Amino acid sequence: MTDLPPRIPLAGVIGHPIAHSRSPALHGFWLKRYGIKGHYIPMDVGQADLAMALTSLPKLGFVGCNVTIPHKETVLALADIVTDRAALIGAANTLIFRKDGKIHADNTDGAGFIANLRQNAPHWLPGSGPAVLFGAGGAARAVVAALIDLGVPEIRIANRTRPRAEVLRSDFGVRLQVYDWLQAGQMLDGARLVINATSLGMTGKPDLRIPLDTLKPGTLVTDLVYTPLMTQFLIEAQDRGAEIVDGLGMLLHQAAPGFERWFNHRPEVDSATRTAVLAP
Ligand code: ATR
Repeated sequence: MTDLPPRIPLAGVIGHPIAHSRSPALHGFWLKRYGIKGHYIPMDVGQADLAMALTSLPKLGFVGCNVTIPHKETVLALADIVTDRAALIGAANTLIFRKDGKIHADNTDGAGFIANLRQNAPHWLPGSGPAVLFGAGGAARAVVAALIDLGVPEIRIANRTRPRAEVLRSDFGVRLQVYDWLQAGQMLDGARLVINATSLGMTGKPDLRIPLDTLKPGTLVTDLVYTPLMTQFLIEAQDRGAEIVDGLGMLLHQAAPGFERWFNHRPEVDSATRTAVLAP
């Protein structure tokens, strides 16, 4: 018997649409940087074809994939093993196709969010005081789960559609306090961390407009939106003396665990990585 050469590992991102995704540029940069023989490709897959794609990909040599809009929630029902954090968040972004044929689904968004703050605002102490969160979608759920895990004592949340924020409170418990969207400015008193987890501020969308007069200088303010990197919300916060962290680092850090599992190398997130992803 002749020994076959090892299979070249394949991974990618499944979504619809997918052309805007920066993940292929990011993983492609890491593959090249570490001299790894492997490929990471964008896959435009509609809802009707998701199950078929997940059955076929492992047979074609895929070791896993990322999942993005609109499949992050529906993919849970198609996975064989769902991590506790993905189940709690109600969404997955990272799949591993195991050798035994089982699909393992995880959510690394919360870990990516925290790693971004740790890297860019290392003196922020989770236990030091309340966090304020705008938004109650999938990204907000991942952030809440991570903040609770880290021991943030109080999380104040406001969402345009208030019942969605109330669902977060019943899912994540008493450390959450729901505020009215129109009273969002009142949430900032004593806050140590302020987060935009809505899609407001993204190119083509209106800005997030919150009165920041009660924001204390030095408060850490971050935005999950990274197109543009400097949202109007971050610009206004910076003008008031806040310390700001943009959202690109979260994208980079949430990708690292998947890359490590698929390609057996823990990738570094540094300024060269940022530059590679920002390149047109
Ligand atoms: P993601 O998975 O990125 O969190 P999502 O689940 O669609 O995406 O959530 C988008 C978030 O942005 C929600 O909090 C949404 O508020 P609603 O729950 O009221 O829809 C918020 N958002 C989007 N457009 C908004 C707008 N024009 N004004 C206020 N909030 C908005």
